[in-house]
Amino acid sequence: MSSVTGEAPVIEFAGVEKVFPGHHALRDLSFGIDRGELVTVVGVTGCGKSTTFNLILGLFPPSDGTVRVAGHDPHAEFEWFRRRIAVVFQDARLLPWRTALQNVCVGMRFAGIPKEQWQERARDWLSRLGLAGREDAYPHQLSGGQRQRVSLARAFAVDPEIILCDESFSALDEITAQGLRQEFVELVRTGGKTGVVITHSLTEALTLGDRILVLRPPGHLADDIAVPRDPDPALLDELRERVLAGMTPPAAADPAESAVPAL
Ligand SMILES: Nc1ncnc2c1ncn2[C@@H]1O[C@H](COP(=O)(O)OP(=O)(O)OP(=O)(O)O)[C@@H](O)[C@H]1O
Ligand SMILES: [Mg+2]
Repeated sequence: MSSVTGEAPVIEFAGVEKVFPGHHALRDLSFGIDRGELVTVVGVTGCGKSTTFNLILGLFPPSDGTVRVAGHDPHAEFEWFRRRIAVVFQDARLLPWRTALQNVCVGMRFAGIPKEQWQERARDWLSRLGLAGREDAYPHQLSGGQRQRVSLARAFAVDPEIILCDESFSALDEITAQGLRQEFVELVRTGGKTGVVITHSLTEALTLGDRILVLRPPGHLADDIAVPRDPDPALLDELRERVLAGMTPPAAADPAESAVPAL
């Protein structure tokens, strides 16, 4: 797949199928994401968003088709990718018996970063994410938003090329989510990273990224929508309708039968 920059896409799916026992999760999924892009992925529950992430992470191979990340096969070269991709989930997934600082260090240990760098990098990233002074707090002593900040610090401290967020902001109240989202965008852009964010929030999809990939069951790309920075309200409404139309399975196209997609 060609890219708008002329470079090969940093993430490339071509005709990807993923079949689990008794379930066909992805069908003929093809898309490309350029280096430095910030892309959101939306779709109704079960349409294959996390499966797509797991393929990017190399957790399993596709059943058919090809997945390439920076030109490499992430499943076959799992070790090569350890430092290059980081993921942030909906729940912070911190080790409860480790402090904020230690949790960030654990990420660097798994990524193979030399031990002498851990402390300084962890303190720096915790501070950038507004947690200076809370380095020694345990997860149960932090709020949900603060735990998610630790989780983001753990991801960025590894200095990965690609950051994946799987509903990372959806367990937070809207005000906290908005602030953290903005900081995330800033960190991704200033760091020259490629960011891919799964979200169930249309507002997040329409305001966070450069592009929205709309998946539709069963695991197919229904639409690929460019989002301008600072779109006016009329365009936002238009894009919102387009995203919703993309998410709706064809069987529900009859308005009499259609249900509001589960967002
Ligand atoms: N390891 C697995 N074994 C069997 N089935 C799986 C496996 N992983 C995912 N599936 C199935 O594949 C489909 C897609 O799952 P996936 O987790 O990718 O959906 P999703 O779009 O992330 O949904 P949600 O929005 O609810 O998180 C689901 O029907 C799920 O049950
Ligand atoms: Mg999911």
